[in-house]
Amino acid sequence: MTEICLIPGDGIGQEVIPETGRVLIRLCPDIRFTYAEAGWACFRRTGKALPEATLLAVAQADATLFGATQSPTDGRVGGYRSPILQLRRHFDLYANLRPAKALLPYHPPVDLLIVRENTEGLYIREEESDGEIALAHRRITRRASERVARVAFWYARSRAPQRDRPPLVTIIHKANVLPLTDGLFRSVALNVAQQYPDVQVEELLVDAAAMWLVKDPTRFDVLLAPNLYGDILSDLVAGLVGGLGVTPSANVGDGRVALFEPVHGSAPDIAGEGVANPIAAFLSGAMALDHLGREEEALRLRNAILAALHAGHLPRDLGGHASTIEFTEAVLLALS
Ligand code: NAI
Ligand code: MG
Repeated sequence: MTEICLIPGDGIGQEVIPETGRVLIRLCPDIRFTYAEAGWACFRRTGKALPEATLLAVAQADATLFGATQSPTDGRVGGYRSPILQLRRHFDLYANLRPAKALLPYHPPVDLLIVRENTEGLYIREEESDGEIALAHRRITRRASERVARVAFWYARSRAPQRDRPPLVTIIHKANVLPLTDGLFRSVALNVAQQYPDVQVEELLVDAAAMWLVKDPTRFDVLLAPNLYGDILSDLVAGLVGGLGVTPSANVGDGRVALFEPVHGSAPDIAGEGVANPIAAFLSGAMALDHLGREEEALRLRNAILAALHAGHLPRDLGGHASTIEFTEAVLLALS
């Protein structure tokens, strides 16, 4: 029995995660779902953005699918902390895998993977301000840099058989301006590279990487980046393949907990309209199936998404008119 914990969260998370559940159960009727709460609505109702019961459910499940949560709009609210940041930290999910692959013929044939460090950098959220000068601390450690670099090189190697080029890891940094912090990230990654002689390695400053990702995105394979750069570049890359409606992600560590989530947030501008594109959530589900050793079902799901798109069912953000539910129905049809 495989147990998947579903955390819809806020906004369009409430729309795309239940539909993902429908698709997953069609593929794997033996899956059992548990539902757990997190986010802003949960905080307003219970005073907790991430209740203990949710942590327990995530710890017990074989995989977790997380929708998105909404941050309070007027800055910091006492007691509110982002549930996804808390979950990543609590379970030490130190690598954030963000693949981007073109789904439609008119997108450039991008097929790349961003491996983002997930536990430190600027996301330690240590800020101080006296009203005149505001400071943010940014932590880079050898340990965190090394373990995430290993993940990047490991994935570059494992992706190689499906690609017609030698595996390549591009190390993203800004060590010219930040020689101590980014310099450490860079040198640790270059050290790890020596243990993977079959994987080519290169480095790019983050600003140049942004330019090359727009100008020639198909030259990339795996990009290894510190936390903030990885976050920003992954939204840029999402834009190349159709937007945030189609990009999934995985948060993994060394333990058995793994958490899968669309890259997008709660999309308050479209929440409640029934038009959110569920592909990012479906592809996150496919990554969860891969993780659970259900590669065959994951492939069937990816093919069903392509079939639905090629049959003309395009969600609104991809230029069509299919609602969340209509697109889900098209995927279910392709699966039957
Ligand atoms: P967002 O990803 O929610 O939305 C950005 C834009 O992309 C919006 O125009 C939205 O309509 C569109 N979009 C996103 N997903 C879509 C989908 N599946 N289908 C169609 N269009 C889609 O980012 P935004 O607006 O910056 O943040 C909104 C809220 O979400 C904020 O409170 C933010 O803090 C939170 N957030 C939460 C995340 C998480 O829980 N992991 C990640 C990113 C943001
Ligand atoms: Mg982001």
